Amino acid sequence: MAFIVAIDGPAGSGKGTITKLVGEKLGLINIDTGAMFRCVTLEMLKKNIRIDEEEKIKELLDKINIDMVGGQQELQIFLNGEDVSKKIREKEVNDFVSSVSTLKVVREKLLGLQRKIAEGKNVIMEGRDIGTVVFPNADVKIYLDATPEERAIRRVKQNMEKGITTSYEEALQNVKKRDEIDSKREIAPLKKAKDAIYINSTELTIEDEVRRIVDIIEKVKNK
Ligand code: DC
Repeated sequence: MAFIVAIDGPAGSGKGTITKLVGEKLGLINIDTGAMFRCVTLEMLKKNIRIDEEEKIKELLDKINIDMVGGQQELQIFLNGEDVSKKIREKEVNDFVSSVSTLKVVREKLLGLQRKIAEGKNVIMEGRDIGTVVFPNADVKIYLDATPEERAIRRVKQNMEKGITTSYEEALQNVKKRDEIDSKREIAPLKKAKDAIYINSTELTIEDEVRRIVDIIEKVKNK
């Protein structure tokens, strides 16, 4: 039987790191849905497609092929066969991705893909609307949060490890702007599902967070 853990929360709340570590510990397949929106955004930037060019976006979505390799390790993201793991984290994509993810055509296409990828598997899937829209019946739902300032600090560090230089001010601005767009959009906005467990990670270490989430999941599994 498939087992689904949904991890939602705002940009930079630590979802990526936590999802990877919890997935490794419990043998769950890690699916990063933000990376899928980032791939669509990168492809639009490459082809110079604007947000109001719906026909061109549809055409792009018909041809797009996104693969996530790594399962329980650091994910490698392939877009139409090319490893774009690093490119999708760059500034241009960061600045545009929230706007792209407001589009109905994009959300519909990715919703189908997200459900298909998880079919029959034990997964831990991170995003903004996993517990509310993609898998409203997920076995475990977690909503991870932290202050915008803490999330900006984490973004700077995370990017540095990936060889991308970002200033604190730039990261903070981006985090705030994305919070605004992600939570105010019409379709599938970022919000805590009623039955999700809220965790504010501002003062928690990564180890504490992982331990708490692993405990929550194990309790549900052993019920
Ligand atoms: O998690 P992330 O920062 O990589 O996500 C990038 C953007 O994708 C985010 O600003 C909003 C969008 N997104 C979304 O709308 N729904 C999801 N399930 C995941 C991401």
